[in-house]
Amino acid sequence: MAIKSFDTSKTDLNGKSILITGGTGSFGKMLLKAILRDHNPRRVIIFARGEYNHFLLQNSLPEEHVKKVRFFIGDVRDMDRLVMAMRGVDVVVHAAAQKQVPLAEYNPFECIRTNVIGAENVVQASIRAGVKQVIALSTDKAVNPINLYGASKLASDKIFVAANSLAAATGTRFAVVRYGNVLGSRGSVIPFFRDLLKKGATELPITDLRMTRFWITLEEAVNFTLSCMPIIQGGEIFVPKIPSMRLPDLVEALSPGMAIKNVGIRPGEKLHEIMITEHNASHTVDMDDRYVIEPEWHFWDRTNLVEKGYKTTPEGFEYSSDKNDDWLTVDELRDILATIPEGGE
Ligand SMILES: NC(=O)c1ccc[n+]([C@@H]2O[C@H](COP(=O)([O-])OP(=O)(O)OC[C@H]3O[C@@H](n4cnc5c(N)ncnc54)[C@H](OP(=O)(O)O)[C@@H]3O)[C@@H](O)[C@H]2O)c1
Repeated sequence: MAIKSFDTSKTDLNGKSILITGGTGSFGKMLLKAILRDHNPRRVIIFARGEYNHFLLQNSLPEEHVKKVRFFIGDVRDMDRLVMAMRGVDVVVHAAAQKQVPLAEYNPFECIRTNVIGAENVVQASIRAGVKQVIALSTDKAVNPINLYGASKLASDKIFVAANSLAAATGTRFAVVRYGNVLGSRGSVIPFFRDLLKKGATELPITDLRMTRFWITLEEAVNFTLSCMPIIQGGEIFVPKIPSMRLPDLVEALSPGMAIKNVGIRPGEKLHEIMITEHNASHTVDMDDRYVIEPEWHFWDRTNLVEKGYKTTPEGFEYSSDKNDDWLTVDELRDILATIPEGGE
């Protein structure tokens, strides 16, 4: 498979308390599974609003795991609730977000309340509760954003990087993990195409035949996040090196020979996604399996990776889905599709 596996062998969560905001979502559930499978945490706190999803998650876990998990109903808009949930917590992974692009456009301030004010609340609560490490999830849509979802995640990224200055003396350290589309995530193109095929479609719609996207599997998004934990000094935006895919190749992998209908680009959609702009190149470091965008300003103790011998990316470097040198072939896509459950993850 062309999506490489990120090494999590140096990550040690034994004896630690971990809180996952958005812990009932796709990423949160996969992270919980990985932590309970590979580590022996003191406890894992799942923080999210929907009672029913808490209930479903609780029922899906084996008994020996349920004992380690706390199901905390809460909203990231509610700072007091966050502070209460974070008491005694060592590591926070912030995955809660409002992430549907059209819904954010229709309900702009709801998106800002969750993604921006929620981010600030997570920062403040983590500092108050004495959390040691916070990792917030970002997206390629936060780079040169053209929709409110992306803009709100860009604001969130800035809040988490700057939080290290606020927290300097307390020792709480904040970093960001940014990746591209998750193959097969709920509501994404793969379950959508599969549904159309099941209904007997004779052609599949593509908004633009030239469109490219970065792709990662949910499992590797989780592994990548875990693999960043031992190297966080505060203020980094970690970007995994992952392959790109052309949308027509996905159609071919799903249903060989299927006709494609070009339906035109949708509002808020880009032809190609960017993870690192050329303006970041001078402070982006290449660490073999990942890029690290280092903070341009920092008022807390950290050693720039360049001082540790890593090289910055060349002038003009841009990490975008169309300029990637790693591409998923139709055969590779077919192999990956076979691992993705019907209906998405
Ligand atoms: N999926 C992708 O393709 C992708 C790609 C790149 C980055 N990301 C990022 O990865 C993160 C996780 O995404 P995902 O795919 O796991 O999303 P998801 O499946 O939609 O899960 C979102 C989670 O956040 C919770 N949540 C939403 N609003 C909340 C609030 N106000 N307070 C507390 N919890 C709240 C949801 O539960 P309730 O609604 O019950 O509260 C749910 O547990 C997000 O930050 C997203 O931006 C996703």
